Amino acid sequence: MKTTINQVNHYVGKEVTIGTWLANKRSSGKIAFLQLRDGTGFIQGVVVKADVSEEIFQLAKNLTQETSLYVTGTVVEDTRSPFGYELQVSSLEVIHESADYPITPKEHGTEFLMDHRHLWLRSKKQHAIMKIRNEIIRATYTFFNDNGYIKVDPPILTGSAAEGTTELFHTQYFDQEAYLSQSGQLYMEAAAMALGKVFSFGPTFRAEKSKTRRHLIEFWMIEPEMAFMDHEDSLEVQEQYVSYLAQSVLTNCALELQTLDRDVEKLKQIQAPFPRITYDDAITLLKEKGFDDIEWGEDFGSPHETAIAESFEKPVFITHYPTEIKAFYMKPDPNRPEVVLCADLIAPEGYGEIIGGSQRIDDLDLMKQRYEEHQLSGDAYQWYLELRQYGSVPHAGFGLGLERTVAWLSGVEHVRETIPFPRLLNRLYP
Ligand code: 4AD
Ligand code: MG
Repeated sequence: MKTTINQVNHYVGKEVTIGTWLANKRSSGKIAFLQLRDGTGFIQGVVVKADVSEEIFQLAKNLTQETSLYVTGTVVEDTRSPFGYELQVSSLEVIHESADYPITPKEHGTEFLMDHRHLWLRSKKQHAIMKIRNEIIRATYTFFNDNGYIKVDPPILTGSAAEGTTELFHTQYFDQEAYLSQSGQLYMEAAAMALGKVFSFGPTFRAEKSKTRRHLIEFWMIEPEMAFMDHEDSLEVQEQYVSYLAQSVLTNCALELQTLDRDVEKLKQIQAPFPRITYDDAITLLKEKGFDDIEWGEDFGSPHETAIAESFEKPVFITHYPTEIKAFYMKPDPNRPEVVLCADLIAPEGYGEIIGGSQRIDDLDLMKQRYEEHQLSGDAYQWYLELRQYGSVPHAGFGLGLERTVAWLSGVEHVRETIPFPRLLNRLYP
């Protein structure tokens, strides 16, 4: 019976054939242990000299790393391995022999591994991270579909900037200048006025010259936008959504979390509601923690976010930032127009901001005033103004960065390992 590693539990005591690659191997005179992988998982194949032909045993002993092969054997339960099953091999058939595979079981430097990312993805750790990424994507679709949201795909080639003009990728669009999308938000606002509750999931481009463990040049963002919802309503959606992601990963990726040595007790605590503090409170907290030179009106950097997060076990919302340092579309607090109805959600354990969100300005005149202050061209943004002209309603939305969320839930240090082919300041290869 031909099957895959993730299905062997259905075949205990039976003989199966699996298409695999050899990840690693140990052998002695009488037995060979093959670490096999097939994309769905990893399993140990045990080849006992006394049980197979001499030819098969010699073949097993001489297999090279990443050789592809069909393995036939009997599935047995193995309580010592986290996976729970192994294969007692009866036969092997090499498909293609791999020679001098560059990534050996010894330690390699990061740059070497990044240069071989197309092969590095095969390793057990990278496999686990990609499975968790996939689970977060799957859970995202389930969460929003179950809660009445419609998926909408905003354009990637755009004629206007959503998040400020300094980090734009420029490109030629026939005889016009165009940019790669920094955020689908403005288009999602139009979609919310047509469909009520919407979400997008797509690639985002930021020509940011940052070289930190949290920054990618190309990353994926989930952007929900909700008509007839205010700032508070949006925070509730966010904490429900992020809790759902954490619990889905715990339930459906137990083996992967174990492979990554993730402290799951920390993830079990990720349940709504999340604490909320204002920007003002955050400034006070930072001063108490010894950040003497931070002044009201300044934005927070990674060290500030990490210090604030240390005071909480769950993600924490920092709300009501100064209007000056936030995007043009955020709605001022009616009681205090020097701050906006916005929040950043800061993940625990130093993973930084995973969500940025806000209630949007719904008043036409105020939006026109913002255009002037931010010197936004009337032509490129005319359509966005019109959303405030024809039946404007209160609305709010947010953007969750997929890679930072994967890094946090997986417990991996750097976002470069959370996307198959990272685009970094100095890296466009492979
Ligand atoms: O805070 P940001 O810039 O918010 C927006 O783009 C809004 N338009 C979203 C909205 O309201 N619809 O980005 C949102 C999130 C951040 O919290 C972070 O998780 C992620 O996107 N992010 C990045 N992730 C990796 N690399 C980068 N360079 C990132 N920049 C932002
Ligand atoms: Mg932000």
